[in-house]
Amino acid sequence: MHMRHLSLIIVINILGVLFSCKDPILPKLIQEAYEKLPEKVDFNQHIKPILSDKCFICHGPDKSKVKAALQLHLPELAFAELKSTPGKFAIKPGNLHQSQLVHRILSDDPDVVMPEPESHLKLSAHEKAILIKWIDQGAVYKDHWAFIAPQEPQIPIVKLKEKVANPIDNFILARLETENLQPNPKADKEILLRRLSFDLTGLPPSPEEIESFTNDTLAKAYEKQVDRLRDFRHVEVDKNLSLKLNCFV
Ligand code: HEC
Repeated sequence: MHMRHLSLIIVINILGVLFSCKDPILPKLIQEAYEKLPEKVDFNQHIKPILSDKCFICHGPDKSKVKAALQLHLPELAFAELKSTPGKFAIKPGNLHQSQLVHRILSDDPDVVMPEPESHLKLSAHEKAILIKWIDQGAVYKDHWAFIAPQEPQIPIVKLKEKVANPIDNFILARLETENLQPNPKADKEILLRRLSFDLTGLPPSPEEIESFTNDTLAKAYEKQVDRLRDFRHVEVDKNLSLKLNCFV
């Protein structure tokens, strides 16, 4: 009994190694695309656009157009036993080998490959790779982002602590570290004011404004400029609004 159990585990493990995504047996182009993928695949950001462009016309929410009685827009439908192919599954979360979707998108056989060649839709190597990674990571479906309550993310720890002025910097620095890049030195005051001015008003700063900012050596000099430009914007908006309102009186 024990031996049978053990050999089953060994067989499953061998299958796992053959078809595990740390080292998946994928065609070269897809393998290359796979290596460039983000660490965590997200349904809304990466997967839904592909399914909706390349699969939903035949496997989406519109029941009258559904082919092979397969719908992929909801997890309970995509994970259910296939109606046209009993005993098999379009998506088995975490199991590439048992996911017909994976076999279908990797196939070279025109009678098997998805999307159907007659549809003139095609998946790129990147799209195939990301669908595969998503299934390998558990094929997590997510609600539309607008229905997901925002959650405070974990703030990454970074080496260049002295460059952190607020927690947003941690995210930027962490990404630079993974890309082996160094942050640029802080820009000159003139450039900072120019950027801020364009961001908040759409206009460049005047020479007098630049001079007053460069001469302002107080710690909160930049914040003062933010307040000034924000107020300027309100004044402009108010002016426009009252102009418009005046037209109606
Ligand atoms: C233009 C229509 C069309 C598009 C687009 C399309 N399919 Fe299909 N699909 C079919 C038809 C028709 C079948 C049934 C015939 C067959 O099994 O080949 C099918 C079958 C399947 C099956 C097997 C179902 C079973 O019961 O065995 C899977 C899995 C599948 N499609 C996945 C996809 C995926 C993933 C996409 C997008 C990347 C896609 N299809 C795009 C028409 C389409």
